[in-house]
Amino acid sequence: MSIQVNQIKGDIVELLFNPREEDLRVGENLCLRDPNSGQGLVVQVIEFRTASYPSLLREQLQLVLGAGGAPLLGGEGVSLADVADSLSPRPPAGTLEETLPEAELRNLKVAVAKIRQLIQGPGAAKPTPGLRTGDLGQAYWEQWDGWIPARDVVIERTADAEVFANCVVSAGNPLLLGRTLHGARFEVEGRDLEKVNIITGVKGAGKSHLAKVLLLQLIERGAPCIVFDINREYIHLPPHRLYPGTRKADRRGIIHLEAGGDPSGSSSSGRSLRLGIQQFGLGPLSTMMAKYGLPEVSAMYFENRVARLLEEVEETRQRGQRAPFIGIDQLIQMAEQNEFSAAGDRSTLIVNGAIRSRLEALRNTRLFARNPAEATSLRDYYDLVREGGALVIDISGLGNLARVGFVQAIIETIKEICEEEIASGSYRFPFVFFEEAHMYVNKSSIDYIVTRARHLGVTTFFVTNMIVAMDEVVLRQADNLFLLRLPFDDDVRHVAKSATTDYETMSAFVRRLRGFHALLIGRVTRGYPLIVEIDRLAGINTAGETKYFFRGQEAGGK
Ligand SMILES: Nc1ncnc2c1ncn2[C@@H]1O[C@H](COP(=O)(O)OP(=O)(O)OP(=O)(O)O)[C@@H](O)[C@H]1O
Ligand SMILES: [Mg+2]
Repeated sequence: MSIQVNQIKGDIVELLFNPREEDLRVGENLCLRDPNSGQGLVVQVIEFRTASYPSLLREQLQLVLGAGGAPLLGGEGVSLADVADSLSPRPPAGTLEETLPEAELRNLKVAVAKIRQLIQGPGAAKPTPGLRTGDLGQAYWEQWDGWIPARDVVIERTADAEVFANCVVSAGNPLLLGRTLHGARFEVEGRDLEKVNIITGVKGAGKSHLAKVLLLQLIERGAPCIVFDINREYIHLPPHRLYPGTRKADRRGIIHLEAGGDPSGSSSSGRSLRLGIQQFGLGPLSTMMAKYGLPEVSAMYFENRVARLLEEVEETRQRGQRAPFIGIDQLIQMAEQNEFSAAGDRSTLIVNGAIRSRLEALRNTRLFARNPAEATSLRDYYDLVREGGALVIDISGLGNLARVGFVQAIIETIKEICEEEIASGSYRFPFVFFEEAHMYVNKSSIDYIVTRARHLGVTTFFVTNMIVAMDEVVLRQADNLFLLRLPFDDDVRHVAKSATTDYETMSAFVRRLRGFHALLIGRVTRGYPLIVEIDRLAGINTAGETKYFFRGQEAGGK
């Protein structure tokens, strides 16, 4: 391969190469191997420059001068041509500069690469358990200790198999994400995706598409998933189909649930998702009441009374008796009967009045079931996808306040599902996708999920183009980052705080990523930054439902 080491400084290697022969790309992995010992370095290209070398300088100077070679300022006998000559000593024997014709030399480029790993020859050391190096007889990588090779190294592209063998641990749950820069299948281990993942990139870079790729792969591998879909982008993915009359899946796919949807089901493709007060839970209910401006004193009366009510209902249920249904209308009725504060003075009317007005506002959100028939059990739906499938919760029809409260309520339910899975020992924990999380999940809920994820078993994917809105704590907890093109420095600096890789690498890669390519870094790559071309999902309807004012010609418009 006609690539040569120009120089090594710190952990940066400059390589001279002829782009007509070698089409290197940013993110490419190269091996610099000592031909005798087999030891070497893995380096990764982070940027390109044009080459400058003495004879080019001479040529350029001569072009500026024209044919004659005018004297330098003052004209005291030294001409630019002389300077050019003194700047262009004979190139060292055997280098590209010496062997290539002048015209070829002009095209040479410099690849700036970062030293990543030290290569031990095959069989040199015991690989980490799970790594595939041993089986394949691949060279084994380890932490670079500062060793550098002599100039006469052999430079080769690192084979994809060697990269996988060293960076992707296999535990038998491969998820196909796409292709490497050289077109090989790129699979990650499902277990390494578990717990906290962040997908970010500039608008339109392909975040949601990547989330769909992950979702479909997880479903295929039998994972239960839940998606908060704010833009109706996931609802056209292949539907979950059951064998008639059973709860067993004939084809794994998605179940579209529409938060606050029409319970008669006549006006939507989704199934209505409305909750009773018990399912909604007191915490989210109080949050919503507070957001609707319920004063603190009234909130205290409200919480005390509703907590007692829920306890009574639970006791009834535990005694094996039929518990009464509680909806918003029942709570409004209680407020009308002054049940929230029964002191009998003026404050009673004020407190109950305040609570009643907020409950009426809540009723208008359409989130609450009006009768037991309308109440959906998320747990029942979860059971349908427990062996693979996704509940796509369409929250596009909700107002901002309703959305925050509703998602908080669902997060509580997810927590309960996890606790039940732990208690029963079945461990079918959900993989939860939050699209544009910053728009409806408050910071404390995100912190809670992220810090408790390991204990609860839940895995989360936060998909956002507002990465600066994501707390540093969350970034540091992230197991994996999926970065699409990210041209703005503020964003890059913020993501770099996750400390999974250095700012320099991250910045070099994410600003130069081609369309539909992502940089992966985290447990799935054993901390090694890898670029992958994301699968196109050919034949699958990934389209959302963007509504346009102007009609395109393809739609028959003029
Ligand atoms: N790997 C891919 N192969 C083919 N098409 C893709 C790929 N990634 C994204 N696209 C297409 O590019 C467009 C934008 O992708 P997507 O909606 O995923 O971007 P986004 O980053 O989520 O944008 P936004 O910030 O607006 O949510 C979509 O039409 C999508 O189908
Ligand atoms: Mg998107």
